[in-house]
Order: sequence, then C-alpha cells, then structure tokens
Amino acid sequence: MPESTEFRTPLPEGLITVLFTDIVDSSRLKNSMEGDTAARRDAKFRSQIKEPHDKIILDCIKESRGHKVKSTGDGYLFTFTDAEEAVLCALKIQNVFRVNAVNTPLGPLQIRIGLHTGIASPTDDDYVASAVDKAAQIQSQATPGEVFVSHETCALVERLKGVEIEEAGVFDLKGLDSQKLYRVSRSGDAQSANLSTSRSPVVSEIQNPYEFALTANTKTFKGRELEIQELLESIATGTHTAVFGLQRMGKTSLIEEGLRKELESRSELNNSVFVVKIDMQRLGGAQVMYRDFVYAIIEGLVEKISSLGLGRNVQNLRRTHDIFNPGQYQRGDRTEFFSVFAKLLSGLSDATHRRTVLFIDEFSEVRKVIERNKSALHNNPSRTSKLLPHDMYIDVPFIHHLSSLLKDPQLKKQITFIVTVRPFISEYDEREGLQLLKLMKPITLYHLDEKAAKRLITEPLSGQVTYDRGTVDYLYWLTAGHPYLLQFMLKLIIDKIIREGRSRVTSQDIKAVEERMVTEGPAFDAPFAVLISDYSVDEVTHPKESLLGKGLLALIAYLGRDQEEAWVLSHEIFDTLERYKIPIGKTSSLLSQLTRTKIVEEASVEGTLKYRLSIPLLRQRFLRQNLYLKYFR
Ligand SMILES: Nc1ncnc2c1ncn2[C@@H]1O[C@H](COP(=O)(O)OP(=O)(O)O)[C@@H](O)[C@H]1O
Ligand SMILES: [Mg+2]
Repeated sequence: MPESTEFRTPLPEGLITVLFTDIVDSSRLKNSMEGDTAARRDAKFRSQIKEPHDKIILDCIKESRGHKVKSTGDGYLFTFTDAEEAVLCALKIQNVFRVNAVNTPLGPLQIRIGLHTGIASPTDDDYVASAVDKAAQIQSQATPGEVFVSHETCALVERLKGVEIEEAGVFDLKGLDSQKLYRVSRSGDAQSANLSTSRSPVVSEIQNPYEFALTANTKTFKGRELEIQELLESIATGTHTAVFGLQRMGKTSLIEEGLRKELESRSELNNSVFVVKIDMQRLGGAQVMYRDFVYAIIEGLVEKISSLGLGRNVQNLRRTHDIFNPGQYQRGDRTEFFSVFAKLLSGLSDATHRRTVLFIDEFSEVRKVIERNKSALHNNPSRTSKLLPHDMYIDVPFIHHLSSLLKDPQLKKQITFIVTVRPFISEYDEREGLQLLKLMKPITLYHLDEKAAKRLITEPLSGQVTYDRGTVDYLYWLTAGHPYLLQFMLKLIIDKIIREGRSRVTSQDIKAVEERMVTEGPAFDAPFAVLISDYSVDEVTHPKESLLGKGLLALIAYLGRDQEEAWVLSHEIFDTLERYKIPIGKTSSLLSQLTRTKIVEEASVEGTLKYRLSIPLLRQRFLRQNLYLKYFR
C-alpha cells in the first residue's frame, strides 16, 4: 500500500485528474435534522451524516493514490496523477454509498461526483487553475449518485476494464462553452440499465456487502468475542487500553462495529458511558502542535455532547481558546498547559453525567508526528525557546505529560482512553522512552479464528448465495482468516457472481480470483503490501531494513517452495542469509519480529525450529512474482 497515512505529501502537478464531490441537497438536509435550533440541527447533521460521509470518502481515497487537497464544506477536492485510478475511486465511492447507505431524514444520502483532466500546478496547499474550476462545474451537473466526467477524462479511461461510459448530454458550464459530458458506471452495476434486464430478478437484487476499503459493517463484522469482552471490562473498570494490530487487522472495526453493537445491546452500560472518537490520521498540518491535539479532543467531545443535546453549559465549558490565550498562563510551561487541559477534560466529562470513553484511532501516528517535528526543530533549533506550550510541536515530553494525565486518579474515574496502535509502537515507545503504553492494558488482534472467518464467508449473504462443497474451507485456508484479505477476495468473487447473474459460488470462481491475485503484478501490489508492512519500527523507519524484512519473507517462501506444507528449517534461512553477509543476530531479531506479528508461523520439530509464511495466498504470490530474485541476486 502506498504510504497513504502520510499527513501531507506533495500535491501532483502537470497533467492531473481533478475529482470533486458534493452532498446533494445539503441545506435542506441540515434543516430536516431534529433539533430546535439551527446549531443543534447542524450538530446532528455533522455527527449523523457528515461524519459517516467523510469516513466513506476518505477511506476510499486512502485505498487509492489520490491526494486530498481540501474539504469544500459539503464535499472534497482530490487530485490524482492517474485518470483511471481517479475514475475507479469515484465509482467505488458511489458504490459504497449505495451498499452501506447513510440514512437521512430525506432518504439515503446521495452525492454528486465530477472529474476533469487538465494541466495544473499547486501553489501552497491548493490549486488556482481553470482545470479545477471546470471539474467543479462538471460535478454540479452530475446526477445524484453518479459520476460525470469531461471529454478529456473520458478519452483516458475509455479502455478501462469493467467500466462503461455513455454520453450524459450537452451542458452549459458557467464561463465555458457548452460541453458534452459523460456518465461512467461499473459494467456490473445493478444501476446500468441495459444489463440488469438480462439477470434474474433475485440475483440482481443481491448487494455486495463486502468492502475491503472500509471498516466492517453490521452485516460483515464477525468474531472477536473475547476482545469485545475485554473492552467492555476496560470500560466498566475504567482501564486505559491499547488495541494492537497490524494494518488492516480489524482494529477500527472492532471498536466501531463490534464494541458499538455490544454497547447498544446493554442499555445500562450504554447509558452510563459516552464514546468519542478522534482519528489521529486526520490531525492535519505539516507540523502538529500541542494545540492541534488538544483541540481535536475538546472539539470531538463538545460536538458529541451537543449533538446528543447533553450538557447545557458546554459552550461555557468549551472555552478552548482560553487555554491558548497567553493571558491564561502564569508560568507558561507544559505542566500548566496540561493542568488546564485536564480541568477542561474533567469539566466536559462532568457535563455529560457519564463516564467518557475517548477512542483515539491510529494513535501510532504520533511516531510520525514526533519524528517530523524533531527534524523541523533541528532546522530551527531556537523555535521552542520563545513559545508558549500550545504552539510547540508535539514531542516526547508531550507524551510524558499525557502519561501523567492518564495516571491522574481523579481523571481516571471520568475518562477511559482506548487507543488503536500498530505493533511497532511498543518498540518505539521503548526506544524513545515514551512511557505511555505500559500504562495501558494491551489487547492484540490477529487473524480471525476459523469459526469467525467462515461466518464472514457464509453469513452476510445467507439465503441469497450458496457455496459449493469445499469452497468455504478452501477460502479460509487460502487467507488464513485474514479479515482484510477475506473481504478483498469476497468482494471480487461476489461482484463476479452478481455480474454473471448466478447465486452459487463454485471452486472455479475462487480459483479465478486466486489466479488473478497471484499473477497480476501491479494491479494487486497494494493489498499484498498491506499484509507485509509495519511489523516493526525499523521496518517503518528505515527503507533498507524494510527491504531486508520483505526479503526474508520472500526467502522463506522460496525455500519452502517444494517442502511439505511449505515449512523451512531455521538453519536453511540462517545459512542463506549468512552467505549474503547478514549477521546472525540481525536475522534472528527479524525472524522474531515477523513471528511475533504472525506474518510468519513458527513451529518446532524435534528440537529445531521451522518457519513458513502464515498466509498461503501471500506465499503463492511471492513465488509466482519471483520476488526472491528481486531481493537476492
Ligand atoms: N471482525 C471482522 N469481521 C469481518 N471483517 C472484518 C473484521 N475486522 C476487520 N474486518 C475487515 O478487515 C478490513 C480491515 O479492517 P479495519 O478495521 O479497517 O482494520 P484496521 O483498523 O486494523 O486497519 C476491513 O475490510 C474490514 O471490513
Ligand atoms: Mg483503522
């Protein structure tokens, strides 16, 4: 996967494809929300419609190589270097809105999307370019729920497989001549009229519930019973908790779907807590300051409190600006800043009359924030000396203060932190002496167990789709129960079934998808990159180390190619790497990192250790793509 978690990467320039989205009928929608004041209605709109809307769009973008330029209020502006990718991303967004509808008082939420390809260069963080204006115009002409593109974009995506293009008509675009615009759709879409007639009515009604770009939905979330129990216990006892898991292992899903569903079914507990989510990935800006972090938390709390109509005096309590007001400070140091922050947190939590659960997603992003801030300070060392804490860049001392806050006995009674983190963060914590994670109860996620994995295959479409004998077992074996990989394959398989108007999955269907995933090069690089990244902090920070880790995976796949169940004896691995002058110590520490995150399986036979890649599909891809040769020459 491309490093889509980067806060800011440079915006593309030259020939770019511009994608605009916008919510249909947004003013009417805001007015239709429940609430006796405009502020309340807006707050409801934000929490019930805008937030899920943002999540769908940003998650889809995250899966592509699109760049977020800005939010336009009710929509977004993104740019892409690749027109095909932009169009596929737009279609995916619309599909997700169809499948996982965001319900509103006016019916399922709909958005318009428009794209145009032209020359543009960014200035600062935005574009001032006619190509961008034109894309905005096209967007405003698009039919709700559809994707419209200009002639220029159309020409670049004509040959895209699985996509249909038709003329939408001639439109007058403000300030431009009248233009022919085109409607693009997936050829498998139930919406594309000319196809749907040829299908049996039952099959065409099947909606594909699988969506690997998003967190699991009510239909697809399975398993994790123990982890949910642990989380409930954390909440009940006020224990700060860190949920560990590699990228796409199901951390966010566990909290947003698993825990949410469980809480909803226990009204007593549910009425005594108050869950607020902050996404660290969304903390914007080139450098993240103390105030950005604090703002995000306070604003998250205030918004949630007002959308629930709780706490009348919240507005007074808010006074976020006060803690950033120089007059507030007597000493002007971090301790003072944090004590004001603690008071605010505690006041807001009191206002809810419940205990607050503060869910911070992707907390391991602090590593990136701290590192980037470190290098900014390196270039301008005098920066800190003249600043009040709120303008300081987030650094290790910030985390130390946060730790003290977590330990505060008074605050502990009011607020429970649940963070999701990737495994490398514990090494980082140790190396930098953050002293944060040892204050938290760890819960670690691995692949779904066999029962949950099989339920993910059979339950979401039970009664609509059946599986031939052996196919469920085979799919489970191939993916080893990895939730993302399962959703990825199931998405492709079910799309195919729907397209072909069938309701039975045969082993041929699975083999066909399997074959594509192991043989097609760049097309499937992204999902596999997800599986093999982030296992250690060295892997994350040093490109060379990352090559070594991936090389080791390729080597294990290669050495196991003719072995019984692909097992490789440890000495074979060590011997090979020694020939490439990799010290034994390094090899064994790498191996232990890989086994700890269970990308690699370890077993012992008669006193010697043996290893293999834990996901057969990944093993096959390493072999078929000849990746061994890429790393070892
Ligand atoms: N318990 C689960 N049941 C079914 N699918 C899951 C489950 N957990 C995760 N998934 C799927 O795996 C993928 C990654 O999940 P996500 O929660 O985004 O992971 P993370 O937050 O760890 O990156 C998504 O496609 C999601 O739908
Ligand atoms: Mg997540």
